[in-house]
Amino acid sequence: MDLQNKVALITGASSGIGKAIAQSLDSAGMKLVLTARSQGKLDELAASLQQAKVLAGAITDPDIPQKLLDTALDTFGQLDVVINNAGVMTVGAIEDVDIEAICDMVRLNVESVYRMAYTALRHFKTTGSGFLINTSSIAGLKTAPQYGAYNGTKYAIEAFTDALRMELAGTGIKVSAIAPGTVATGLYDHWSQEEKAYVTSGGALQPEDIARCVRFVLEQPDHLLIPRMLAVPINQPV
Ligand SMILES: NC(=O)c1ccc[n+]([C@@H]2O[C@H](COP(=O)([O-])OP(=O)(O)OC[C@H]3O[C@@H](n4cnc5c(N)ncnc54)[C@H](OP(=O)(O)O)[C@@H]3O)[C@@H](O)[C@H]2O)c1
Repeated sequence: MDLQNKVALITGASSGIGKAIAQSLDSAGMKLVLTARSQGKLDELAASLQQAKVLAGAITDPDIPQKLLDTALDTFGQLDVVINNAGVMTVGAIEDVDIEAICDMVRLNVESVYRMAYTALRHFKTTGSGFLINTSSIAGLKTAPQYGAYNGTKYAIEAFTDALRMELAGTGIKVSAIAPGTVATGLYDHWSQEEKAYVTSGGALQPEDIARCVRFVLEQPDHLLIPRMLAVPINQPV
């Protein structure tokens, strides 16, 4: 896809991977709709970009996917790309894990991704084109002790994305999963030093590394789809 003047919607755009994707797609000449809960961070980011519209809110709100689509159409007249990226990572031992936080994670990492995806894809089917990218994880391809609930959310994204790819064959609409290994973002802010030591034992990518992968996937010619891109630090032992 030639990205110049195309319109992308990015969830989880206020920090980390989503913010880096916004900056990368902006430099490719795209117009952006940005969402997350932190209005101030989004406004600051949007002010540094060429053409970006902010709609702040919890992506778990069932009404927000349609509002985001409407914002793209009202502001820019089209929507070409959706980056379904917002997510959290809650892990822990059976005895310790906060079950309510786990269920909140499922609503964010899975339910809100499904809602945003179906809303976007129904629109893409009316236009006959479009590209949906879901942020998965290496944790969507392999499990680890104490990571089971998070693994489940990302395995769901992998399965969903692959089934959508087959359902969409022949429509002109593309869907892909980006599966990062460890990336240095705020995802681990609430973790203990011991927990962080495990995930960062092989170093960490920067959010810009994942943004570069997203751009590479998007910029392939129409006849070529990369269904999944796994990108890990060279020394990641997992
Ligand atoms: N960092 C890694 O090592 C890594 C590895 C593999 C996959 N991932 C995946 O990458 C994605 C982005 O994470 P990140 O690493 O960039 O972490 P991050 O810096 O913490 O970013 C998470 C983003 O999601 C938004 N968000 C969180 N809860 C939300 C909610 N309820 N409603 C709306 N937005 C919400 C946050 O914004 P607000 O707080 O402003 O709402 C923020 O913009 C996630 O899906 C994560 O699972 C990360």
